[in-house]
Amino acid sequence: MIPLMKNAFLKEIETREALADFIRLSNKFSMDLKCREFEQSFAKFQGRQHAVLVNSGASANLLLLQALKNLGRLHDGDKVGFSAVTWSTNTMPIMQLGLQPVPVDCEPTTLNSMSHNLIEALKMDDLKAFFITNALGFTGDLAEIRRICDNKGIILLEDNCESLGTELPEGRAGNFGLASTFSFFVAHHMSTIEGGMICTDDDDLAEMLTISRANGWDRNLSAVQQQKWRSKFDIKGQFEAKYAFYELGFNLRPTEITGFLGLYQLQFLAENISLRQENYIHIEEFIKKNSHFITLDRSHISLLSSFAMPILCKTPELRDYYLGQFSGAGIEIRPVIAGNMVKQPFFKKYVSREYSLPGADLIHDCGFYCGNYPELTQSDLETISSCLIS
Ligand SMILES: Cc1ncc(COP(=O)(O)O)c(C=O)c1O
Repeated sequence: MIPLMKNAFLKEIETREALADFIRLSNKFSMDLKCREFEQSFAKFQGRQHAVLVNSGASANLLLLQALKNLGRLHDGDKVGFSAVTWSTNTMPIMQLGLQPVPVDCEPTTLNSMSHNLIEALKMDDLKAFFITNALGFTGDLAEIRRICDNKGIILLEDNCESLGTELPEGRAGNFGLASTFSFFVAHHMSTIEGGMICTDDDDLAEMLTISRANGWDRNLSAVQQQKWRSKFDIKGQFEAKYAFYELGFNLRPTEITGFLGLYQLQFLAENISLRQENYIHIEEFIKKNSHFITLDRSHISLLSSFAMPILCKTPELRDYYLGQFSGAGIEIRPVIAGNMVKQPFFKKYVSREYSLPGADLIHDCGFYCGNYPELTQSDLETISSCLIS
């Protein structure tokens, strides 16, 4: 059996032992110094000014949109574009926060929304923001997408939960928009069991994310920031200040275990990314040789932080055949993320408008993936490639 994932952590045994020691010796488990240290190290890795740690990638997406509403940069009813091939909790917070979700089609050859897809969507709808997903380690032509968004005053946000570490010649995935979100759920590029992050260079957004992450209060801000909020609302003295709630928020705080694991896993991340890329390139050779498949175009990507091994067949019938091949060889498989999001029951329940999304439909009907992770052995890679021969 080749499962979608083998281990909970990079360097599984070493990490479990370090975690056990941390739990034995630590006196504090609620959000504190380890979380702060991880935020600082992650911001440095990503090349961003600020990183705000939360308890999942879904929470990161929810918090980001709430913070933008609190800042008055998004308003009730604003149209927010999203990549049609994405994860549920990319799209759900758009709807939950009273914004209008507008699917943007995805290009089968890159699995992602490209600039031409965005241009098409803009012919029908004026978008206030575009919450693009960088799918499975791949991306669209992000520099061109950023240029269009800048020209039209569209806030570009990147859901980078599946593409931590991917690089384009113009920069790292997650650094093209105002802010980006990450997931550290098991089976992602690094794991804190559950966990997520938001990165940005915008000081006001980082401040608002910190307020809205924890109850809407100011306790996790710097003394200077606290002073600013307290004077604005004429709050005098600690007694009142500790229980002043300034903005709409949640409790999405991580624990010190999240912070510890994040810091520990970060040291193995670069090695993990390059092993995943090597595995993908190995399998890609077999995909290229078989005319039943569409080969994915990664020519605009300089470092592919591959999340999984996506296989795109030319027809649904061919996919049925290859699903049989993979299952027969004991390889666990699944749809490409969750296919076209507008086909999901929750979306249909709230959005009656019909959208033409032929690219996302093709990915939905003809795609699937198996796992890609550093523990894949030579024999695992041989088993996968043997299923790709026609
Ligand atoms: C694109 C995308 N966004 C958001 C998420 C949510 O992350 P989490 O599972 O940490 O809540 C995922 C999860 O896999 C994802 O793939």
